[in-house]
Order: sequence, then structure tokens, then C-alpha cells
Amino acid sequence: MKTLIAYSTTLGCTEQCASKLKDDLGEGVEMIRISRRRRFNLQQHDTIIVGGSIHEGMIQRSVHKFCESNLEVLLQKQVGLFVCCIDPDANEQELIDRAFPAQLVEHALASGFFGGELNIKKMNLLQKIMTRKAARLQKEPDIDFQSILQFARTIHELGSDDNFNGPIVHM
Ligand SMILES: Cc1cc2nc3c(=O)[nH]c(=O)nc-3n(C[C@H](O)[C@H](O)[C@H](O)COP(=O)(O)O)c2cc1C
Repeated sequence: MKTLIAYSTTLGCTEQCASKLKDDLGEGVEMIRISRRRRFNLQQHDTIIVGGSIHEGMIQRSVHKFCESNLEVLLQKQVGLFVCCIDPDANEQELIDRAFPAQLVEHALASGFFGGELNIKKMNLLQKIMTRKAARLQKEPDIDFQSILQFARTIHELGSDDNFNGPIVHM
């Protein structure tokens, strides 16, 4: 089985989520950080999971570009999509629809909403100012590990059987 998690991260949270997802999915899963300058060979993978985080209402441009420029290949694969963000009132489906090309959203086996963190220590001044309001949220935002596990389960269940040897034993 060959699964790829392609992600972008600004302050490290999406990378943490991708890493947890990798563990939940089991063996044979690779992770790559999407970069605008790098080209990727996606042909060797059966399943491709793409994720990023929401900043000012949008996913990283590199994630959108990655999906657009590899759309033809992605539509031939088993695909999962996920986003990280902290807005407790966010409409999950709307975010996914805005973040990824419509054809890909329709094609995807699963889409996930993994929560997020406000990593103030890693922020520059502008990022701190931009997230000032969010920093006053009543509840500290957090990664939704249960949602990551559920996403991994869905990929296991809906993906072709011989593709996964993963653990997914914990609840
Ligand atoms: C400058 C900035 C803008 C953000 N804008 C939004 C937003 O519009 N909606 C939201 O739900 N979260 C927003 N967030 C929160 C991020 O989505 C959250 O911190 C996420 O965990 C970041 O993941 P990353 O570290 O992988 O980039 C913003 C964070 C920063 C630093």
C-alpha cells in the first residue's frame, strides 16, 4: 500500500496533525510538505491525503495550487482532504468547499476538520495582531485528535481493502 499525506503548515500545527494521521493510518504512509517550488511524483501512490490550515479564511495558496496543478492525477486516486482551523463557528463543509477544487471535493473519500492551535510563541507581530480576537476565545483552541482518528477510519473503510495494514486500535 502506498499512501501520501501532502500538507502545508504555517506554524507547525498541520504538520502535527499530519503526523498523527500518519500514525493512525499505519504502515506505508509517507508525508511531504507542499512547497510551491517543488514538483511531486504522485503516480506511485494509491491514496493521497491533502491538508492545510486556514489563515484569514483561506487555505494556504500552495495547497490550492498543488490541487489544481495535480488535479488530473488526484482524480485517479483515492483522496482525503482536511483542514486545520480554530473558529468554533466555522461551517466545515463551506471551508472544505472554499479550500479545495469542487471536482476534488466531490471525488474525495473523506474530508476532515481537525481543529487547530494558536501557537503564539511562533507567531510574528503581524500574526499576533491578526489573531488577537481569536486569542480571547473562551475556550483554548485545540487539535481534535478524535476527528483525526475518525478520518483515518473512514479512509480505511472506504479505501480498497488490500491498501491498508494499519493499526487503528485505540479509541
Ligand atoms: C495570521 C493567522 C490568521 C488566522 N486566520 C484564521 C481564520 O480566518 N479562521 C480560523 O478558523 N483560524 C485562523 N487561524 C488559526 C489557524 O488556522 C490555526 O492556528 C492553525 O492551527 C494553524 O495551523 P498551522 O500552524 O499548520 O499553520 C489563523 C492563524 C493565524 C496565525
